[in-house]
Amino acid sequence: MSTADIVIKNGTIVTSETSYKADVAIQSEKIVALGENLSGTREIDATGKLVTPGAIDVHVHLEMPIGDFVSADSFFTGTRAAAIGGTTAIVDFVETQPDETMLTALAVRQKKAAKSVIDYGFHMTICPTDINKLDQLPAVYQAGCASFKLYMAYGLRLDDGQILQALEAVRNVGGMPVVHAENWEVITSMIARNLDAGRIEPRWHPRSRPSIMEGEAAGRVINIATLVGTPLYIFHVSCAEVVNRIAAACQDGLPIYGETCPQYLFLTDTAYDEADVEGALPVCSPPLRTPADQVHLWEALAQNSLQVVSTDHCPFTRAEKATGLEDYSRIPGGVPSIEMRFPAMYTFGVQSGYFSVNRWVDICCTTPARLFGFQRKGHIAVGYDADVVIFDPNCEVELSTDSLHEDVDWTPYDGLVMTGWPAMTLSRGELIVEDGCFVGQPGRGRFVTRRLT
Ligand code: URP
Ligand code: ZN
Ligand code: ZN
Repeated sequence: MSTADIVIKNGTIVTSETSYKADVAIQSEKIVALGENLSGTREIDATGKLVTPGAIDVHVHLEMPIGDFVSADSFFTGTRAAAIGGTTAIVDFVETQPDETMLTALAVRQKKAAKSVIDYGFHMTICPTDINKLDQLPAVYQAGCASFKLYMAYGLRLDDGQILQALEAVRNVGGMPVVHAENWEVITSMIARNLDAGRIEPRWHPRSRPSIMEGEAAGRVINIATLVGTPLYIFHVSCAEVVNRIAAACQDGLPIYGETCPQYLFLTDTAYDEADVEGALPVCSPPLRTPADQVHLWEALAQNSLQVVSTDHCPFTRAEKATGLEDYSRIPGGVPSIEMRFPAMYTFGVQSGYFSVNRWVDICCTTPARLFGFQRKGHIAVGYDADVVIFDPNCEVELSTDSLHEDVDWTPYDGLVMTGWPAMTLSRGELIVEDGCFVGQPGRGRFVTRRLT
């Protein structure tokens, strides 16, 4: 082989299947060869390092308007933090205004994402005002949005009949439906009852969204998906009740998938008992659960009852969180996790013995790429995009607002120590992170046309 642009030498390549020592040659944005003694114009020594695919985060909310607020990280700051943590592709969301077409809404959102530093895609949201626009789904799929978001909570929620119609339309285009599964009627009744009784503090947040009802909602939408004959991916699974339903569906051979997120793996509901704004900071929906749920989630990842870890990255500032201290139901929901996910899953998944390095890559890179139609990402093989992380398994990083690069003034993971952190991140063959510093350019990320067939 002639000399490549870049060769990563002497590292251990880790894929979802296997680990082996080989050099990686990169030319014109792609991996062009794997083997021994490859030579490149630039050679990077990866002795003692793991060479993994770039991680893929299929659930992020950047510059996302929610109620009176907009989530704190922009497409620039959020993707920069993601890249420093080893993530090289994200999937965010499009929401269509009642008087807009879905394609117009997609174009508006693409413009917003123009400063992204890594590649990106969008889930197209189907909200109640989109039910009479379902004939637009083939064009949306053609435009590269292979996945469609359905809410069972918030103002954007669909009722069961609308879920049936939306799932049929997604099935007809061969897309992947993703769902926020909670029982909104029960939640709103419980919130109203608590507020009437003066129970206004954040500790009432988990008590208004019981895990049994998250399980009920997940079970209901799994049943509708089964009736329709479509795969289904359940977002931000927080508790044993949902894991058990996904596991039962998998046992029956149904194409039902689920993700969990770092907040559910590292935090528990006692966080809401903290005084003042500290108790409001970790408000997210579904809420943080019990230590027993947490163990269940880790085991589910090990046993493939959950297939993916994404972040649901949706940060709000301390001041924004504090606006809900007189009424916990008004606290803007969401936490920051976009930077720490990949190293945290190595430290606490692999090093703690829950699963292998290959399963780590599968959960964070390969399965998200496969389920969401990133056809040239999530794997180290010839012909794939050269989205590569050179991961130092011995590098210690203590998480804090100072050490992280997210554009928000708190982190729920303050003091958590990672053993293992990306030394370098390459996106389509370009070195964009070196020794924890971003060295790329804003706007270099591209919209990826995703396809499931
Ligand atoms: O509370 C959360 N999770 N906020 C982000 C929006 C969502 O529900 O995923
Ligand atoms: Zn959600
Ligand atoms: Zn979300």
